Amino acid sequence: MNSQSLKPRREQDAPIYLQLYRRYRDAIADGKLRPGDRVPSVRSLASELNLARGTVELAYQTLTSEGYFLTRGPAGTFVSPRLESLGESRHKSAIRRSATKAKPQPHSLVAEPLPFQLGLPALDAFPHKTWARLAGRGLRNLRSAAMAYPDPTGYEPLRRAIAIYLGISRGIECSHEEVFVTIGYRGALDLVCRTLLQAGDIGWHEDPGYIFARQFLESAGMCLEPVPVDEEGLNVDIGQRRAPHARFVVVTPTHQSPTGVALSLPRRLALLEWARDRRAWIVEDDYDSEFRYHGRPLPALKSLDRDGRVLYTGTFSKVLFPGLRLAYLVVPKSQVGRFIAKANQLPGPGSILPQATVADFMEQGHFARHLRKMRLLYATRRGYLVDALTQAFGSHLQVQPQAGGIHVLANLTSRRDDKALAYAAQSRGLAVQALSDWQTHKTPQKGLLMGFTNISEPEMARTLTRQLMKATEKN
Ligand SMILES: Cc1ncc(COP(=O)(O)O)c(C=O)c1O
Repeated sequence: MNSQSLKPRREQDAPIYLQLYRRYRDAIADGKLRPGDRVPSVRSLASELNLARGTVELAYQTLTSEGYFLTRGPAGTFVSPRLESLGESRHKSAIRRSATKAKPQPHSLVAEPLPFQLGLPALDAFPHKTWARLAGRGLRNLRSAAMAYPDPTGYEPLRRAIAIYLGISRGIECSHEEVFVTIGYRGALDLVCRTLLQAGDIGWHEDPGYIFARQFLESAGMCLEPVPVDEEGLNVDIGQRRAPHARFVVVTPTHQSPTGVALSLPRRLALLEWARDRRAWIVEDDYDSEFRYHGRPLPALKSLDRDGRVLYTGTFSKVLFPGLRLAYLVVPKSQVGRFIAKANQLPGPGSILPQATVADFMEQGHFARHLRKMRLLYATRRGYLVDALTQAFGSHLQVQPQAGGIHVLANLTSRRDDKALAYAAQSRGLAVQALSDWQTHKTPQKGLLMGFTNISEPEMARTLTRQLMKATEKN
């Protein structure tokens, strides 16, 4: 396939990386790219199309995380062979569909969660009936007030429901005026960058840490200083030594992403003190705090913030489903005016219809019920995977005893290379990820990250674990 046919157009509305992502997706659905085909490296495509490397990298990361691409380290990046194993007939029918329809529907290629896929809730346990009922009622009762231009800070009943929920379950006292609904977590980061930061500002970023946040902040022009994470979470002393004048820090205090450790109380207090003294901002990413299986849930860092330095973010991606693209940001009271002014210049969080459905879901008690159910279900499913891994790998893997979260981290006890193991597993369609791929600096810590939320039976855990063993035995 000719690389020039991938070239995005600057005059189009969609961001360049998204255009590139879509061109690849369409090329796969159209059969122009086949499972196993090699794609150009980020560097060579960026230079050929005259694009920034970060832009191509972001498109490739998205394609990889959605299962279209597979990275094999130095061997390069390929169209995932897993698309083939989803069924030749399915692939062909996607191609046939694309021949008869003006617009192919390539998402159908990867509609099922991949085994061990990270970051997804249990798709089989979502209360579809309740959701459909609420959404249908919302549509039928659409009043003229709801048909006008929406509030760019988000639908007010949803902001009220979020404020109440955060007060009860996260110890955060806030009113709905401090809550901004955003398009996913990156929408929240975008609002923070545009309101409080400037290109070139220095920020601490956890190492290892959430890849998409790092990429987003870099593409927004921020200069990130990787700060190591240990068994107490982000090492605040090292951050202060390496970049004392940083303007902000992005941190996952409840379950550090991806190691799962909690930021200790002394570190929380040290971080708040540093932010107060330096007038720096703390972005608290509380993406999956709802899922904790033993011990008491830790209150949010924001609940300890006496000086108005913490910007708190939460998402509905893990507690409902990521396709909703709804998240939220709670800003310090003193900054509400600035955030409203900025939100008024931006497109806002989109249609009020899904926001209204989430608001009803929360107000009518379905949300609390769903969370309770999911907590029990995930504790069980986590147990299936941990038991199967322990049986199959014995002392070669050490599953970290994280108190919560929706993935497990299994550290390698030998000197084996986690990237090589993860690439071998991915080439067999298993969406295992290497801890090293989430790190900026090399450390001796090696491990495999595995999602468990969609492992619904002990037998399924055993089968997948056997496949993982087989895929990795030669590495
Ligand atoms: C560390 C972390 N933060 C935030 C999010 C939420 O992102 P979003 O709201 O865009 O789905 C995720 C999702 O996987 C995550 O892993």
